[in-house]
Amino acid sequence: MRVYILTGLAIFTLAGCLSVLPKPQAAPQPTGAQDFAQYCAACHGVGGRGDGPNAVGLPNPPADLTTIAARRQSQIFPLAQVMTKINGYILRDTAGTMMPEFGDLLDSPVVLVDTGDGIPTPTPERLLNLAEYLRALQVGGA
Ligand code: HEC
Repeated sequence: MRVYILTGLAIFTLAGCLSVLPKPQAAPQPTGAQDFAQYCAACHGVGGRGDGPNAVGLPNPPADLTTIAARRQSQIFPLAQVMTKINGYILRDTAGTMMPEFGDLLDSPVVLVDTGDGIPTPTPERLLNLAEYLRALQVGGA
């Protein structure tokens, strides 16, 4: 019986000590630039021009991500399309693209984004930040 009481007391004391320790902070969310460096630069290159070290030997060359807007007839950066491409909703085409899907990026707080259709759509913040990072890389276009 005494053992139980002592054990209980020890656990209680330990719990008390632990509760005053600072709580571990959640790791800060990576920025768009950090996600790009970690997930994309290997193929698309540090500057996004499609010249990363892993681009060599891919059946399809990684797109030059600095000309996404300029290559569109509208010259407008297609935010929704870019986010869709990154998270893999656009199915890999039969031509065998090597562009992977990045589900990890979906695992972040959601923000409401109007991508041009007037409808605020819940969008994972990391995905949005990464797409905005690509928007900032554009040369020409809007
Ligand atoms: C394994 C190599 C590889 C990695 C890693 C990769 N991509 Fe790609 N990406 C490609 C290839 C190849 C294409 C061109 C074929 C296609 O469109 O699927 C492409 C195309 C794209 C396009 C379409 C561009 C356009 O003009 O329509 C976007 C946007 C893009 N990638 C963004 C990203 C982002 C952002 C990341 C990181 C989260 C990333 N990619 C990681 C290989 C890769």
